[in-house]
Amino acid sequence: MGTPHNEAVKGDFAKTVLMPGDPLRAKFIAETFLENARLVNNVRGVQGYTGTYRGTPVSVMASGMGMPSIGIYSHELFHFYDVDNIIRVGSAGAISPRLKLRDVVMGQGSCTDSRYAHQFGLSGQFAPIADFELLETAVEAARRLGAAPVVGNLLSSDVFYNKAGDTLKWGEMGVLAIEMESAALYMNAAEAGKRALAICTISDSLVTGEALPPADRQTSFTQMMEIALETAVEMARRS
Ligand code: HPA
Repeated sequence: MGTPHNEAVKGDFAKTVLMPGDPLRAKFIAETFLENARLVNNVRGVQGYTGTYRGTPVSVMASGMGMPSIGIYSHELFHFYDVDNIIRVGSAGAISPRLKLRDVVMGQGSCTDSRYAHQFGLSGQFAPIADFELLETAVEAARRLGAAPVVGNLLSSDVFYNKAGDTLKWGEMGVLAIEMESAALYMNAAEAGKRALAICTISDSLVTGEALPPADRQTSFTQMMEIALETAVEMARRS
């Protein structure tokens, strides 16, 4: 039996699921990096695939854009499909002058301007963090692959076209980059007692106004995917 948003049955997903935002990205990842990938979900065109990477079962499913969307899919993967690890693989905009286009950023923490945490009924501010073991494993994988990941705080925002125009204030607090999903993912993992990590490549900079041309996005995307896949393999080896 599936869910309102996912027609896969229990056992269809691997223990680690990589989540890009874009369903066509999920298809591309499955076709490019996985062996024997099979489509396990296509409700609303939110494609999910399970295959193997170097012999290890790995799944990839789109999250859609924003916290409400990744909130639904990650909740279901953790609670109804027995998924242990979700690694978001996406793009982010630099809000710190420390970052360059194409940098790989790992979200050690994730700030947010959303009210997503309200549902947990806490009388203070929850600090959404990545799972340390997943983060440590991903950093090691990145270094083995010759990447120099930047690890720190992300900002998950509910708004892409922000009227307030004060996003760079978060950068003054050391926050590295803005995206729209990691905080909800980290909170859902905490609630479920599972693991999550967001890995992002810098596609644009709110500091300098530069943006990667579409053709260039592919190379940094490939490196990020290899880091995420190696992390999935390593987590499976240990469990
Ligand atoms: N805002 C939100 N999400 C993003 C951005 C941005 O500027 N760039 C890439 N993902």
